[in-house]
Amino acid sequence: MSISSLMPVGDSTSSSRPRVGGAIVRKAKLQDAVNIFDLVNSLSGDGTLLPRNYAEICENVRDFAIAESESGVFLGCGALHLYGPHLAEVRSIVVKPEAKGQGSGGKLLQALLEEAEYQGVASVCLFTRIPDFFFQFGFRVVDRTVLPDKIYKDCQMCPRLYACDEVAMVRGPLPRTAVLGPSKISEPELVKLQTGTIPSGY
Ligand SMILES: CC(C)(COP(=O)(O)OP(=O)(O)OC[C@H]1O[C@@H](n2cnc3c(N)ncnc32)[C@H](O)[C@@H]1OP(=O)(O)O)[C@@H](O)C(=O)NCCC(=O)NCCS
Repeated sequence: MSISSLMPVGDSTSSSRPRVGGAIVRKAKLQDAVNIFDLVNSLSGDGTLLPRNYAEICENVRDFAIAESESGVFLGCGALHLYGPHLAEVRSIVVKPEAKGQGSGGKLLQALLEEAEYQGVASVCLFTRIPDFFFQFGFRVVDRTVLPDKIYKDCQMCPRLYACDEVAMVRGPLPRTAVLGPSKISEPELVKLQTGTIPSGY
C-alpha cells in the first residue's frame, strides 16, 4: 500500500491512517514545506542531513511524508526520491528532538518503503551515520560504488566528498543500472574514504 492510499491528504478524520505513539503519517502538502525546511536544515550544519533549500523542498514536496500529532502538530518528515524503476532513496528522514523515541521515525520509514513498493521499486538506498536504525527495516551496508546515481546526484558536489563518514545502505536487490552517470564507475572516481579536513563553512 502506498503513502497515497494510506494517508489521504485533507482527510483528517480517516480511521485508516496508521498511528504509532499518537503520531499520524500522511503525504506532505505544500503548506508543510516551511516546517520541513526548518527541521531538515536544523540538522544539516553538522552533516546529519543534506541541506535542502526551500525551493527544492517545494518542488519535491510530493516526495515527502510527514508525521504529526493528532492535533496537527508537525513532528517529523521523510522523503522518497525516485531515480527510476531500478532505485529509490530515502532522504531527509528526521523527527523533532522532543518527539523522538515514540515511533514516528519508524512509521515514516515504513510509509516510504510502502511507497517504493507501490511504485514498483524493489531497491531502496540511503546514506547514513546511524545504520543501526535502518538494519531493523531490512537495510544492509553496501559499498557505495554500487550506487552511482546517488554519487552523481549528491556526492560529487558535497564538501565532504573526501571525508565522508556515512555508510551506504540498500534494502532489496542492488540496482543493476543507473540513470545519472555511467552504470559502472571505478572506485577512484567515486567517494574516496579518507580522513581529512572538512572544508570550513560546512
Ligand atoms: C533516526 C530518527 C528519524 C528515528 O526517529 P524516532 O521517531 O526516534 O524512531 P522510532 O521511535 O520510530 O524508533 C524506531 C526504532 O528505531 C530505534 N532507533 C531510533 N533511533 C535510533 C538510532 N539513532 N539508532 C539506532 N536505533 C534507533 C528505536 O529504538 C526503535 O526500536 P524499537 O522498535 O526496537 O524500540 C530520529 O532519531 C532522528 O530524527 N534522528 C536525527 C536525524 C537522522 O539522523 N536521520 C537519519 C538520517 S539518514
